[in-house]
Amino acid sequence: MSKQFDVVVIGGGPGGYIAAIRAAQLGLSAACIDEWKTQDGKPAPGGTCTNVGCIPSKALLQSSEHFEHAGKHFGDHGIQVSGLGLDLAKMLGRKNAVVKQNNEGILYLFKKNKVSFFHGRGSFVKGDGSGYEIKVSGASEETITGKHVIVATGSNPRALPGAAFDEENILSNDGALRIPQVPKKLGLIGSGVIGLEMGSVWRRLGSEVTVLEALPTFLGAVDEQIAKEAHKAFTKQGLKIELGVKVGEVKNNGAKGVSIAWTDAKGGAQTLQVDKLIVSIGRVPNTVGLNPEAVGLKLDERGAIVVDDDCRTSLPNVWAIGDVVRGPMLAHKAEEEGVAVAERIVGQHGHVNFNTIPWVIYTSPEIAWVGQTEQQLKAAGVKYKAGTFPFMANGRARALGDTTGMVKFLAHAESDEILGVHIVGPMASELISEAVVAMEFRASAEDIARICHAHPSLSEATKEAALAVDKRTLNF
Ligand code: FAD
Ligand code: NAI
Repeated sequence: MSKQFDVVVIGGGPGGYIAAIRAAQLGLSAACIDEWKTQDGKPAPGGTCTNVGCIPSKALLQSSEHFEHAGKHFGDHGIQVSGLGLDLAKMLGRKNAVVKQNNEGILYLFKKNKVSFFHGRGSFVKGDGSGYEIKVSGASEETITGKHVIVATGSNPRALPGAAFDEENILSNDGALRIPQVPKKLGLIGSGVIGLEMGSVWRRLGSEVTVLEALPTFLGAVDEQIAKEAHKAFTKQGLKIELGVKVGEVKNNGAKGVSIAWTDAKGGAQTLQVDKLIVSIGRVPNTVGLNPEAVGLKLDERGAIVVDDDCRTSLPNVWAIGDVVRGPMLAHKAEEEGVAVAERIVGQHGHVNFNTIPWVIYTSPEIAWVGQTEQQLKAAGVKYKAGTFPFMANGRARALGDTTGMVKFLAHAESDEILGVHIVGPMASELISEAVVAMEFRASAEDIARICHAHPSLSEATKEAALAVDKRTLNF
């Protein structure tokens, strides 16, 4: 007889492992199946986020930023550096060690919470509302049964047609995080989140970076004023960003690198010759090997599992969360859905507020936002007031030597309710949390303006931007 669980989670990324832990906390017997493995075949739970996404990219962003500071900015503080060098193998090794700590942390959490972990691929065999059989194919094969199933199988990088990833020359996020030598010339297709983060890492380490972006506007989803400020900063740093381009033939020339034919915004034919090319043009939901047909699980035309607002699929007691369903492909969104689904399974009212999911791009300056942009409010005909405060006028930012950017508040013209907060500047990733809390509690701009913020701190720029909504900044 196969092992029986109240909940079987397929996929151990941030959506899946968190869902399994929450289910176990709620008294359910929970299993999590994940197939990711290290080079020597050991389990490496944590999904894209831990293995080739959030965690390793932030480790390299941090290391490369230290390198850039030591080379370019320590002098401003009166610190003389001589003999500065780069040990890329060590930097990549440190990144791998950070990943490993996270993999091991998740295995520990499974033990602590009594989640049964299965290493291998999970595929539907058969089932109905009373339970589902899932085959686990790993080092050995076995079948387990779940009364409920949560699918959290994540996403894969989208390839350019005719330019398959070989992870040697044409790189996805995976190869982009382990280039063994700093490429002299690096090309990037797509100036989205991965393009900007990975482009920043390799530029700081010495690559000449060119980014080819199809859209005519830079960071179209970001508030325009913030995107403009960020574009100015990245261009000044040396990132070459070409907008409104059409990418043509991409030739992988082996040891001779990659050549990309492209048309510029004016229609001129161009060729870009690079040592390595990173393709970051979005990701696609992953159901490879899941065998959804066996149970009739419905997918949409993009290959995403169809779910309602509560992550219920087309089948009774089968749920799906994270990158494999609609909505932003973000680790914290996947986690929130995982917790909410586990709570719904036991009859609680799990809740995810899609209006207050923060976004962060971990470049320098960082970009972070929550809620609506000015262009969205205009398009929707919402009457709003805007307030901005530049880091240039913030004492802590001056002390840090990092004064690029601003905080921007958008509040309803009549009620003063905060509708969006947008930050480009130092530690935007941390500052945005205050705005998320405020919006979750439906605070007004004045609420933030009346709260005591520590001095000197970057968060004072948040308070001042809230004051600016009412045209009463104190320090600008
Ligand atoms: P995943 O993390 O993709 O996990 C899915 C897991 O399921 C994988 O381990 C996979 O092997 C496993 N799996 C798939 N099919 C099966 C099967 N049939 N059987 C068993 N196991 C299976 N998001 C942020 O919020 N912040 C960031 O800073 C950030 N940085 C990123 C940087 C990069 C370079 C990339 C690529 C992504 C980044 N993301 C970031 C996005 C984030 O990684 C994803 O949104 C998140 O990982 C989605 O979580 P998930 O649990 O849905 O899926
Ligand atoms: P993206 O959606 O952020 O950006 C893709 C970019 O490629 C867009 O600007 C798009 O216009 C452009 N593009 C698409 N096709 C093109 C083509 N043929 N030629 C030129 N440009 C083209 O996708 P990206 O960067 O691949 O990242 C995938 C997802 O991973 C992100 O959307 C995000 O959800 C997640 N992620 C999150 C991070 C974070 O939270 N800090 C970091 C990295 C990734």
